[in-house]
Amino acid sequence: GRGREYRVACTIGQWDSDEPVTRQELLKGIAGAHGLYCMLTDKIDEEILQAAGPNLKIISTLSVGFDHLSLDEIKKRGIRVGYTPDVLTAATAELTVALLLATSRRLMEAVEEVKNGGWSAWKPLWLCGFGLQESTVGIVGLGRIGLAIAERLKPFGVKRFLYTGRQPRPEPAAKVQAEYVPLNTLASQSDFIILSCSFTPDTQGMCNKDFFAKMKKTAILINSSRGAVVNQEDLYQALTTGQIAAAGMDVTVPEPLPTNHPLLSLKNCVVLPHIGSATYATRNAMSVLAANNLLAGLKGEPMPSELKM
Ligand code: NDP
Ligand code: DGY
Repeated sequence: GRGREYRVACTIGQWDSDEPVTRQELLKGIAGAHGLYCMLTDKIDEEILQAAGPNLKIISTLSVGFDHLSLDEIKKRGIRVGYTPDVLTAATAELTVALLLATSRRLMEAVEEVKNGGWSAWKPLWLCGFGLQESTVGIVGLGRIGLAIAERLKPFGVKRFLYTGRQPRPEPAAKVQAEYVPLNTLASQSDFIILSCSFTPDTQGMCNKDFFAKMKKTAILINSSRGAVVNQEDLYQALTTGQIAAAGMDVTVPEPLPTNHPLLSLKNCVVLPHIGSATYATRNAMSVLAANNLLAGLKGEPMPSELKM
């Protein structure tokens, strides 16, 4: 880009497509590379690192999530990692609010009814949903995005914010007067539960049968973290047995979710194709940051956003 000048002479091998690079191409193309600019669709594991060889010193991912990177293997080889926090926080929080409202106010069903002739008249109870006013919202992971979601929801008249995580986070919590509670309390007291945590062995399958059993029957689950934080079989059960009211997922397992997946047959489940950060401005900012991370790393300088490992 313009403005910043980096005096790094490098040869670039580029996968010139919006589609993910195939594993085969990546294995072939990475041999001997000093740096790698990758996406969350690229699983960077031991096999890829072996294929790269000892030259590889920098990995720059076009994402804030880094669960696609085998950090143990990366650390072992002394490889530094750049990622893209902050620049995507607003867009992701905004999309999460949009998904929450689409789910709670049943927008997908409503649009469908208009198109298929189901709209017969204004009726007192038709397509009623749940509002945010006077509600309790539980945030799992009050990090950058979790806080930005809470800040955007506050003006809707939310009464209480609860949050959970590995430890209390007094500073962000004070900004939205959020109370730190154990996961079980959050599950049982929230009208809306938002997953904005990172994906780790601890959060894998966190929302399972036991979790849904604790939720209110009128409660709604929204996931904009990673699909595997939710046990999808248990979610399907909870949604079809009336254990919870509805769910909105921007992330699933697998991605893409097969079009015949049971969750897609449910009216009370809204699934989006992982578009949290998908605004033109945000994707542009992410790509510039990822490029600057890579270049700074190649020069042996501190990266604008380097992952602390
Ligand atoms: P942060 O690191 O700021 O936040 C991550 C949060 O996860 C922290 O608050 C952390 O809380 C929490 N967390 C970690 N472990 C646990 C645990 N065991 N239980 C509960 N909470 C936990 O990251 P960001 O807010 O920038 O991003 C969060 C995630 O959102 C990313 O990792 C990515 O997976 C996802 N994402 C999805 C997007 C989309 O398109 N849908 C777009 C961008 C990000 P604590 O440290 O206190 O435990
Ligand atoms: C991320 O950055 O981790 C998102 O999932 C995509 O922006």
